[in-house]
Amino acid sequence: MAKLTYLGHAAFLIEGEGLRGIVDPFITGNPMCPVGVADIEVDYVFVTHGHSDHLGDAVEIARRNEAVIVAPYELAVYCQGKGVRAYPMHIGGAHRFPFGRVKLTPALHGSAVVTEEGIVYTGQPCGFLIDVEGKTVYHAGDTGLFSELEMLGERENIEVALLPIGDNFTMGVMDAVYAASLLRPRMVIPMHYGTFSEIEQDPAEFKEHVERLGMRCTILGPGESYQF
Ligand code: NI
Ligand code: MN
Repeated sequence: MAKLTYLGHAAFLIEGEGLRGIVDPFITGNPMCPVGVADIEVDYVFVTHGHSDHLGDAVEIARRNEAVIVAPYELAVYCQGKGVRAYPMHIGGAHRFPFGRVKLTPALHGSAVVTEEGIVYTGQPCGFLIDVEGKTVYHAGDTGLFSELEMLGERENIEVALLPIGDNFTMGVMDAVYAASLLRPRMVIPMHYGTFSEIEQDPAEFKEHVERLGMRCTILGPGESYQF
């Protein structure tokens, strides 16, 4: 069995045969995160974009674990500049890792690291299709609704879709419901809500709408897991 564990916001541990990974490891400063950086043992760190609530503790986790960061090219190079290993990819590109395929998908958003000296732009943001134990997990990253999701739904056999519902910076509840209807995954899990006042949303409302369309939805609290 493969397992996703929600760490609040857009951070998920993803584990299965040959894979100990984390996506968007916003640990320090994440009021929903139930674990500390020192608790995280992974070999792969997937980062969708440079914003601090996604890049988070990626560099520190990669350093502590000798893990490799998988990210869009510009962000990967930024991480390499911090002295850790990173594997650059880009949107539309797939790579077969020992545990399975990873493919980068588009995301309608921005990507930059805000430093004391100013903003460092880190290219395009992405989403991830991550195959584990032969099943595909789609982490949408931060994105607004876009029509290519229909193509992902047609061409990818998505087991679990992790979709932002927080609005303001990403899709809100009803746009995410529509996204789910295009993707048609076996399970939908909402993310990127409730962390800050700007993204307060009711996940139960999202679940109700998704289920009304004949799809399944699981709301994970921080620290809770979904096995598939
Ligand atoms: Ni963002
Ligand atoms: Mn975000």
